[in-house]
Amino acid sequence: MTVLDALFQIQRNQDASLQFRCACRVGMCGTCAMTINGVPRLACKTGIRTLEPGDVSVAPLQNLPVIKDLVVSLEPFFAQWKRINPALRTADPKKTELAIVRSDSRYMQSVESKRDCITCGACYGACGVKSTSGEYLGPAAINRAYLRLMDPRDNGVDDRLRILNDERGGIWRCHTQFNCTAVCPKGITLTDTIGRLKRAMLFPSQFRKKS
Ligand code: SF4
Ligand code: FES
Repeated sequence: MTVLDALFQIQRNQDASLQFRCACRVGMCGTCAMTINGVPRLACKTGIRTLEPGDVSVAPLQNLPVIKDLVVSLEPFFAQWKRINPALRTADPKKTELAIVRSDSRYMQSVESKRDCITCGACYGACGVKSTSGEYLGPAAINRAYLRLMDPRDNGVDDRLRILNDERGGIWRCHTQFNCTAVCPKGITLTDTIGRLKRAMLFPSQFRKKS
């Protein structure tokens, strides 16, 4: 039994008004993220038996406004996501040829373990810096910006670097607490992404010489 199964049982048998979100039930959509025994996790991928014995506590994700019970608004999360211009910005929008991205290219090798974000918000809820700074981009948005900066097809380098370099909301706010990396259900090494960007920011011209 997963925590999500247990919530359905409670909703059916004890409290029909209980509100929570889910869609895929297999760890793909990210909608069921919540705080379980104090840690942000996906309810559909958390087996009750894998938790420490005793009562199981459930709470909404932190750092996000609660709509009702376990349902939070992801608006602040996506507001930060939008700030880094998440869509691919091609150098030549009229080009019709397909781009070839080789599996042994610098891009593929540097982003392979960082591409599977399901925008669940668990890292946002776990981030200690986010809890004190509304302006901080948060780990997922920074990771998305990194993917675009490394992408040889993308042409939005200057805008993204400006936002990432922002003193109040950018990457320098990260205190390397590793909370985001510890909770990401897709195993994305978010702290590593932020560290890479901090080092790369010393030589930003490398993002303009993509290969
Ligand atoms: S980076 Fe990981 S924890 Fe953060 S939103 Fe994406 S999947 Fe969720
Ligand atoms: S219901 Fe989709 S990730 Fe849990």
